[in-house]
Amino acid sequence: MAMTSLERAEAAEHAMSQELDRIVVKSVIYTSGDRDPRQPLPPQQSQGKLYMMGHDPRLPLMPEKPTLFDFYKYRFGPSAHVLQSARLAKKNGVSEKIVLGCLLHDISAMGFIRGDHGYWGAQLVEPYVDEEVSWAIRHHQVLRFFPDEAYGYKYPDSYIRLFGADYQPEPHLQEAHRRAREHKWYESSRLITVNDLYSFDPNVKVELEEFTDVVGRHFKQPKEGLGFDQSPSSHMWRTINHPTKYL
Ligand SMILES: [Fe+2]
Ligand SMILES: [Fe+2]
Repeated sequence: MAMTSLERAEAAEHAMSQELDRIVVKSVIYTSGDRDPRQPLPPQQSQGKLYMMGHDPRLPLMPEKPTLFDFYKYRFGPSAHVLQSARLAKKNGVSEKIVLGCLLHDISAMGFIRGDHGYWGAQLVEPYVDEEVSWAIRHHQVLRFFPDEAYGYKYPDSYIRLFGADYQPEPHLQEAHRRAREHKWYESSRLITVNDLYSFDPNVKVELEEFTDVVGRHFKQPKEGLGFDQSPSSHMWRTINHPTKYL
């Protein structure tokens, strides 16, 4: 017998509440600082409840075989910044690989982990892009702290506002910068920082689809979907897809 729309809505709501009956335990890294990670977790009202082991119904469901763009659409925060950077890079006539680098450069800050986002972001995409692209993404973060007049790159005013005028990159970042400058791909990473702009026109909307061809040519989308292939970073994509999974 066909369900009425009310019954359907109730069934959906029931399914939702059943799902939410699952116990969600956030990973330590989400809460460390808000709470002392050394303390035991408060006891769970676990009577009859199961732990979250898959899709969290509070989030949009991802397609079975998620593509890079699906992550932009369903899991990442607003992507105007990276889209504007990629468009600027294209306008400035850099190679397609660097355009892709600009499109990807902040995905970790947008959808995974902020601290050391260049390193995390590079690791996420490493199996799917040219080595030069992941190298450039990995190092853009550190290069952002260091001016390079030859490329017209100044220390960002926004960093003075964000971190204070007296912020100095820590010694390991100084060393990472020193090494990066001597690397054959220094320019590729530097070009990401040159096109890494926040002062864009908020009225100009750039669609992801503007980069379909570039991504198609330079990002090896796995046929199983990101997260369900067996690459060295597929677990990271699964974690973004299912951020509250217990194990
Ligand atoms: Fe960045
Ligand atoms: Fe950026």
